[in-house]
Amino acid sequence: MTPSIIAIDGPAASGKSTLGLRLAHALGYLFFDTGVMYRAVTWLALNRGMNVNEEHAVATLAETTPIDVAPASASDGRACDVIVEGKDITWETRAREVEAHVSIVAAYPGVRRALSAQQRRIGLRGKIVMVGRDIGTVVLPEADLKIYLDATAQQRATRRYHEILLRGGAAEYEEILAKVIERDRIDSTRDVAPLRAADDAVTIDSDSMDADEVFEKVLALCK
Ligand code: DC
Repeated sequence: MTPSIIAIDGPAASGKSTLGLRLAHALGYLFFDTGVMYRAVTWLALNRGMNVNEEHAVATLAETTPIDVAPASASDGRACDVIVEGKDITWETRAREVEAHVSIVAAYPGVRRALSAQQRRIGLRGKIVMVGRDIGTVVLPEADLKIYLDATAQQRATRRYHEILLRGGAAEYEEILAKVIERDRIDSTRDVAPLRAADDAVTIDSDSMDADEVFEKVLALCK
């Protein structure tokens, strides 16, 4: 039987969203990138001029602000819509400022508690591909199929670098690599729900595989 709840975890820029989105399309499932919720809280805090180091205030924001994640309403490269207080903040959540602070926000236990609870409620409806860092370990340990998608920091930084150039942006490889390494460090050493593969996850190392090969391999696991 095709798994109903599919969890894809792994470090930044390992290709989780590309894989998850394709898989969701192929199976007719909902795609849910949970990282956008941490990004939305970070954006909100920055937008309100808050200091992201004020843990209690940021956690209160996460507890009191509903974040809507809906299927993409525009074909501008987005994987889904992120709506907060009636405003479409999908692209704002990708801003450099957000990128630079999101790991700090995602390490706060109060923020994780609030967002994980929402994610779990959505995930339990089934027919869903959920992407994040702790889906298979914490949010939905009962997921029917757990994938841990890994790749070296160098490989992931290279992919990010090319993505940015393709979108017409300017990028420095060394700077991207340093950020990828720093985010890995924060995400995998935090006290609550650190990034790690669940014991029953299938680990896929995508260093020597392209996106098609990874997709075919996971699709085969679903059949
Ligand atoms: O996948 P991403 O780059 O959009 O994730 C943004 C941040 O949120 C990153 O620092 C990891 C964190 N995150 C998390 O801690 N747990 C999740 N389930 C998803 C993302």
